Parts: sequence; structure tokens; C-alpha cells
Amino acid sequence: EKGGFESFMDKEIHDQPQAVADTLRGRTDADGRIVLDDLRIDEAVLRSVDKIIVIACGTAAYAGHVAKYAIEHWCRIPVEVELAHEFRYRDPIVDAQTLVVAISQSGETMDTLMAVRHAREQGAKVLAVVNTNGSTIPRESDAVLYTHAGPEIAVASTKAFLAQITAAYVLGLYLAQLRGNKFPDEIATTLDELRDMARKVQTVIERGEYVRATARSMKDADKVLFLGRHVGYPVAMEGALKLKELAYIHAEGFAAGELKHGPIALIDDGQPVFVVVPSPRGRDQLHSKVVSNIQEIRARGARTLVIAEDGDDDVRPYADEIFWIPKAPTLLQPLLAVVPLQIFAMALATAKGLDVDQPRNLAKSVTVE
Ligand code: F6R
Repeated sequence: EKGGFESFMDKEIHDQPQAVADTLRGRTDADGRIVLDDLRIDEAVLRSVDKIIVIACGTAAYAGHVAKYAIEHWCRIPVEVELAHEFRYRDPIVDAQTLVVAISQSGETMDTLMAVRHAREQGAKVLAVVNTNGSTIPRESDAVLYTHAGPEIAVASTKAFLAQITAAYVLGLYLAQLRGNKFPDEIATTLDELRDMARKVQTVIERGEYVRATARSMKDADKVLFLGRHVGYPVAMEGALKLKELAYIHAEGFAAGELKHGPIALIDDGQPVFVVVPSPRGRDQLHSKVVSNIQEIRARGARTLVIAEDGDDDVRPYADEIFWIPKAPTLLQPLLAVVPLQIFAMALATAKGLDVDQPRNLAKSVTVE
């Protein structure tokens, strides 16, 4: 069943190009318009939505954080992202104009299910973005948008994360289409770019051996930091989560802009720090700001492990290791940048002799609150 791979996780990392392609398949008509047949929420209701709240846990919540940047940018609807267990036990402001998007691989996570129930009791429409057909969360939601990642067996989520981002982006583009926020040709172009991501994810996987070799050389690390900005920030948090889960190493993801507000105090000689570098072609100054961050931490002794776009020569002087990823639009970069972090965590755990498919204390689906 592992198809010749060392572990299910390794197989599922290799499944990722397919997961992205399958999640996009069949979601446009002959004119290139997005059609979401499985969405049973009235179009008029979707047009009147004035707030979106994404509820999820763990990796699925990080997919939600990534999606927030894209959906707000495309649709100009405020998007909040909240851990399902926090949402449920405060007094969230939701009403009939709120669209709650519940993201879950298993469709059985009890924390997320309880939040879904709570949101519906308050009159919100709930749309589930779920990987497992016929699971409980879609059954209890108003609508479902399935991710088509195929079964995910390894406890640590990989291909589901890429599929969740892809599906949430399709949803964002659909809302933009419905509400007239974007011209049809802009939506078609973004979809084409999204379709092209499968090929680019494959390229990142093919470059995995260098990541593995680096991981093997770091098996004695006792803490690893991850920095990112904009959509790279949730990627940093996801990279840290993978390392905690699989290699039992204390890891933390930070927004790069927070460094000087505290975390830079953690940097001392030899401290490994991953940095996700935004595209140098973005229209803002994100790229140069993050390059300055790399420079600052390196000057304080950090060992910098940089994820950067092909051809980004600005990072070379400050990077101890560079993991190159293909060029992509800023919003789509997470689908590429997370892959070396997954491979790194898996390879480091393997080098420590740990079971990457079954990390200690964890279950694939958390069906208790
Ligand atoms: C991380 C991981 C967990 C899950 C979380 C939500 O690798 O697997 O953090 O992402 O428990 O699970 P689902 O998506 O099934 O609701």
C-alpha cells in the first residue's frame, strides 16, 4: 500500500501534485467559469455574506490562515480564522450573513464538529471543506466542498494541507465570481496558475534529496525556529508543527515582523532558523524586509535555512542553506514552500529512528473534545 515508499508519509508527500490537480478537476465549465455543483447553499445567500469565519484545528487551521489572505484579497470580505475549540467556547458574533467554513481532513474532529453545531445554532451557514466522503462534519453542514486528496493514512497531515488550500482558493474565486469582485478573465488566469502548481510541487519534491541530507545532519538539534511573513507566516507555523509532531523537537513559527518584538532574543550561536522568503516579484516590500530579517539573525549567529524562489540572488549572502522553489505568484507560494518543511521533518524524524507514520501520543482523527 505504501507503493514502494519508506512510509505512508513519504508516499503522501509524493501524492501532493495529484492532490492539487484532483481538487481542481471538474470545477469549471466550458467557458472557464467556476461551477460548484456540490455546494448546496443558495447563490443569493452567498452574495449576501458579509463575514467569513474559518474554523479548524492544527494543520487545517493553518490552511485557513493561508486562505484568509487570498479570500480577503479577491473578495473583499473580512475573513477570521479561529481554532474550533476556541470559537465554540466564547461568544462568537455570527448571524445569517456569516459564512462559517469548517476545514477538516477527517471530517470527524470533535472540536470542529462542536463548533459547526454552535455556528448553525446561531443561524450561520456552514460550508465544510473536507477530505473524507460521508464523514460527520459534511453531514451536519449546509454544504460541502470536498478536497480530493485521497485517503491520508500518516498521522501528520501533508497532502490534505495542499488540497485544503487549493479548495479554499477555489471557494474564494467562486465567491469573487458570484459577487462580481473580479473579471472573468482574471479568475481564469488565477485558475490556470493554480492548475500549474501541480507541476511545480512535483519539482520541489524532486529536489527533496538536498533537504533530506540537511535534515540528517541536524538530528541533534534541540530547537528550531521558523519565520515567515504574509502567506509565509502560516507556512512557518505548519513547518514548526510538523517538526514537533514527527521529531519531538521544540519548534516555533513566528511572523518575521515580530522578530524585533521579542523572538530575536532566542537567537544565539548555531540556532537553526528556517525562513520562508516571499517572491521578489511581489509589488510590496515584503521580500526586502524578510531578506533584512535573515541578515539580522545571521549577524547574531543563527544558522539560516532559507526557502527562496529560483533566481532570488539577494538571499545568497545570508543563507547557510537554500532550498529553492519554482517561481509562483505570492498567494500560491505556500503550496511550494511547505514541501521542503514536510520533507525536513520527516527526514529528521527518520534519522532519529522514529516512526513517522505513527508519532507518539497522536491519533489520526481526534474524536474527543
Ligand atoms: C497535523 C495534524 C493535525 C490535524 C488536526 C485536524 O499534522 O494532523 O493537526 O490537522 O487534528 O484534523 P482534521 O483535519 O482531520 O480535522
